[in-house]
Amino acid sequence: MSGLVSLYADEDRYMKSFNVFLKNSSEHASMIKWIKHSLCKSINNLEGCADKEFLSVGSGNGELDVIILEEILKIIPRFNVTFVDPSHEQIDKCKTTIAMVKANSKAWDQVKVEFVEDTIEAFYEENSMRRFDFIYMVQMLYYVKDYKQVLQNILGMMRDSKSYGIILHVSSNSGYAKVWKNFSGRLPQNDSCNYVTANDITNVLATFHSPYSNTEISSDFKIFEDLLTTEEGKLAVDFITEAAYFVDNGDKGLVEDVIDLIKSNSCSRYSGDALCFNNNLSSIVFRK
Ligand SMILES: C[S@@+](CC[C@H](N)C(=O)[O-])C[C@H]1O[C@@H](n2cnc3c(N)ncnc32)[C@H](O)[C@@H]1O
Repeated sequence: MSGLVSLYADEDRYMKSFNVFLKNSSEHASMIKWIKHSLCKSINNLEGCADKEFLSVGSGNGELDVIILEEILKIIPRFNVTFVDPSHEQIDKCKTTIAMVKANSKAWDQVKVEFVEDTIEAFYEENSMRRFDFIYMVQMLYYVKDYKQVLQNILGMMRDSKSYGIILHVSSNSGYAKVWKNFSGRLPQNDSCNYVTANDITNVLATFHSPYSNTEISSDFKIFEDLLTTEEGKLAVDFITEAAYFVDNGDKGLVEDVIDLIKSNSCSRYSGDALCFNNNLSSIVFRK
């Protein structure tokens, strides 16, 4: 593995790489489209019930939560939400985001909120007897130590067979899945579930006999022809491999193989002049 370190161990590099991803991918737009068109249809049995308990796991800055919860407010006028995130900075931003919408929208008057600065693992330890009607996790299951245990705990906290869980996660048909399947053994390992894709999650749900659906959400990450010498190209490769300075620090042979796969038509397609890496997501809707 020749000195490769996980991208998550280098905050500065991670932020640069993540910003290249944000600038060049349709991920947020694709998620928002799914939330606006399909979320409420997917959880239609919750409709009309008041005083429901919701749990947002790994809320980040809360911006996506606002979009999710505003959609739900159209069918349920009153609910309580608990936001859980271990990052002090993120939960602070989440508080600000939610305070701003609450201050500006009457619809939010009947939404009670609670913020918990903790991992979902620690939250479960303290709250295993609490029950929730709707639990959602957006792009966060990569960061837990044991995603199978977390899924089991989440199912345990769902109130009954009418409760819903939603996970938005990298699809097993995406370019990431191809790269990780072929090379994760030679990419940096840490104690998180970095290289987990949607089928790993649905396989675990199946072992717990949880009914689920898995819908593909199309999304692209525009990458660059020259991934080896341009800074943006290198940062895009870091994001895909989850390894910091992969092009510069990886074994030459490994770097060549990974770049070839990234550019191959099993991971990317051309749209005009742009090379579009398959950034497809899965929306997994599940029950207890
Ligand atoms: C990629 S961000 C996604 C944020 C947000 N859900 C979104 O989609 O915009 C992942 C979030 O998971 C949080 N996280 C990391 N480990 C976690 C854990 N063990 N339990 C709960 N959240 C965690 C991080 O702090 C981060 O805010």
